[in-house]
Amino acid sequence: MSKIVIENLVKSFAEKQVLRNVNLEVKKGESLVILGGSGSGKSVLIKNIACLMQPTSGSIKIDEQEITNLNQKGRDKLMEKFGFLFQGGALFDSLPIWQNVAFRLLNQKKINKKEAKEIAIEKLQSVGLSAKTADLFPSELSGGMQKRASLARAIAANPEIIFFDEPTTGLDPIMADVINDLIISNSKQLGATTVTITHDMASARKIADKIAMLYEGEIIWFGNVSDMYSSNNPYLDQFIHGRAEGPINFLAK
Ligand SMILES: Nc1ncnc2c1ncn2[C@@H]1O[C@H](COP(=O)(O)OP(=O)(O)O)[C@@H](O)[C@H]1O
Ligand SMILES: [Mg+2]
Repeated sequence: MSKIVIENLVKSFAEKQVLRNVNLEVKKGESLVILGGSGSGKSVLIKNIACLMQPTSGSIKIDEQEITNLNQKGRDKLMEKFGFLFQGGALFDSLPIWQNVAFRLLNQKKINKKEAKEIAIEKLQSVGLSAKTADLFPSELSGGMQKRASLARAIAANPEIIFFDEPTTGLDPIMADVINDLIISNSKQLGATTVTITHDMASARKIADKIAMLYEGEIIWFGNVSDMYSSNNPYLDQFIHGRAEGPINFLAK
């Protein structure tokens, strides 16, 4: 069953076309990883799917519902299906960890504080943080613990679709692997569909069912992660092996 279907998606800023005719399908419960060089349009693509940016043209359907022309009410309703873990998505410094995790529960779902805190603690435990962490402030946590808390926040409202934009960037390889494992286990437990951007091939291999490679705003390869190393696609090969030589011109950027 399709969860996300994207057809002929175009996004331009002034005369600059950033996404050119993107077509993609993600099935329910599947994990899509988007690969691509810096500036290739990955974040713009994920923001269009997550209804955080309005496409120039084309169609995006979630659960068979067109989402590119929603009014505010429809959009708010749709957003309840989503969880986000974005690279820049820092925790609120002035709120204790549990209020960060339960932020949407408290604001959108209108559940009481006691119940919200219990859910926050349960989610913190599911990402390997103790109940004691709940009352600490973000500045009292290490970088890896903050990332775990951000993941707990992303899954707190039991989202159907979770978006991860470079979730392991800036972490050491061991912590990155811990976060990858937590992303997989928590997504699977929720039965969530996930869309993840990464340049880290170890993460991509571990997380992905499907891979889409974006180059200059176009999907130049899409397939099963198991076929990624035998694609014979020169762009994908250059990217996954991190070669300077090849059809991708890094100097042009
Ligand atoms: N809000 C915006 N206004 C204008 N240009 C933008 C905006 N957001 C992104 N871009 C441009 O779109 C291109 C792709 O950006 P982005 O999707 O962030 O790349 P990445 O693949 O590194 O995530 C870049 O050239 C960027 O400058
Ligand atoms: Mg980006």
